[in-house]
Amino acid sequence: MHNVLITGGAGFIGQNLVHAWRQLRGQDRLVVLDAVTYAANLRSLEPLIADGRIMFVRGDVRDAALTGGLFETHRFSRVLHLAAESHVDRSIVDPEAFLQTNVLGTFTLLKTALDAWQAWDTIAQARFLHVSTDEVYGSLGPADPAFTEASPYRPNSPYAASKAASDHLVRSFVATYAMPALITNCSNNYGPYQHPEKLIPLMIIHALQGRPLPIYGDGSNVRDWLHVSDHCRALMAVIERGQCGETYNIGGGNERNNRDVVGLICDILDSAFAADGTLRARFLTCPAAAGQSCRTLISHVTDRPGHDHRYAIDAGKLARDVGERCSIGFEAGLDETVRWYLAQEGWWREVTSGAYRIWLDQNYGFRLAV
Ligand code: NAD
Ligand code: TYD
Repeated sequence: MHNVLITGGAGFIGQNLVHAWRQLRGQDRLVVLDAVTYAANLRSLEPLIADGRIMFVRGDVRDAALTGGLFETHRFSRVLHLAAESHVDRSIVDPEAFLQTNVLGTFTLLKTALDAWQAWDTIAQARFLHVSTDEVYGSLGPADPAFTEASPYRPNSPYAASKAASDHLVRSFVATYAMPALITNCSNNYGPYQHPEKLIPLMIIHALQGRPLPIYGDGSNVRDWLHVSDHCRALMAVIERGQCGETYNIGGGNERNNRDVVGLICDILDSAFAADGTLRARFLTCPAAAGQSCRTLISHVTDRPGHDHRYAIDAGKLARDVGERCSIGFEAGLDETVRWYLAQEGWWREVTSGAYRIWLDQNYGFRLAV
């Protein structure tokens, strides 16, 4: 039985992880710490909070008094650190928030955990899992081998640089203080509860609303898509069966370019509308409601500055040393994801109201059709 702290548990991966943890490890006590930024959503956690299956604390990982107090009260033996600013485009517009949360926040949490575990003399039983990204490794050419844990760090965006800095801090705590920490670097996640600023939900929702589908540049950029439930299973395996001080890459083994991803989303929506008349009545502005393909909405826009061309993960170490493999194929996972957004219209309408509209103007207002 562990007392577990999950930071960023109200974000996309965090919510999925909290639900997975509750299902698979019912005996553990779970505390979620989250600042509830624009990226957070508490709807899916509300039932768990209401009946006491998790404890939720609204707060900032940079707040040492708060995190220290939580350690004193709950005597955590497991920490999964997911809290972060996570969107590359936002890091281009406003990098400072990324340094604050991703670097200073990680430092504060590491220091709090280390101090507590040293004071209690429980460091040998404790574990700190830092959840990071493959973007720290930079960009691959079309024929390059996939990233391994030994790939050099070459971050290209302020987001990737801030995550790289946080990884280095974790590594330094391991080497200097024997901190019982592990790092995971994963590829692009997709699935339920992802914020609509990210590629896949953005394209689904824009298509349903009959708005342009803005592909950056020529759309040849490749990502290695990882279903969030595969990712959460891997995180739970790494924190229990991984070696402290080690890094594990987690990838879906699903390399696709952005053109193909957007085309597939359109095809899934077209078929769903053809098969289900109620969708035509619910989403009148979607081209599929009038029997046209959602592909008619595809538009190529000004590229992202410093846009990494390709990410791909070699997840061999995860399989060999932890015995964990991601298994959800991209086509099946995407089909299920599109259907989740079709069913959860209330959720994404709430998330896309208010401040999100201002972001759309900031990020897409200046982009020209090319
Ligand atoms: P997200 O943006 O959906 O959620 C981040 C959460 O962190 C939000 O709930 C937010 O409120 C919280 N948060 C932000 N600043 C905070 C602060 N100062 N204190 C406390 N909480 C704060 O992100 P996500 O997609 O769920 O990503 C989770 C983690 O996984 C991040 O560390 C990210 O770098 C990493 N990651 C994500 C992906 C992906 O594809 N989504 C890929 C690789 C790595
Ligand atoms: P994103 O979901 O922002 O993740 P990341 O930048 O961390 O990989 O973007 C995934 C890919 O989709 C990336 O190559 C940028 C591209 N993209 C678009 O073409 N249009 C968009 O509107 C967005 C948000 C992303």
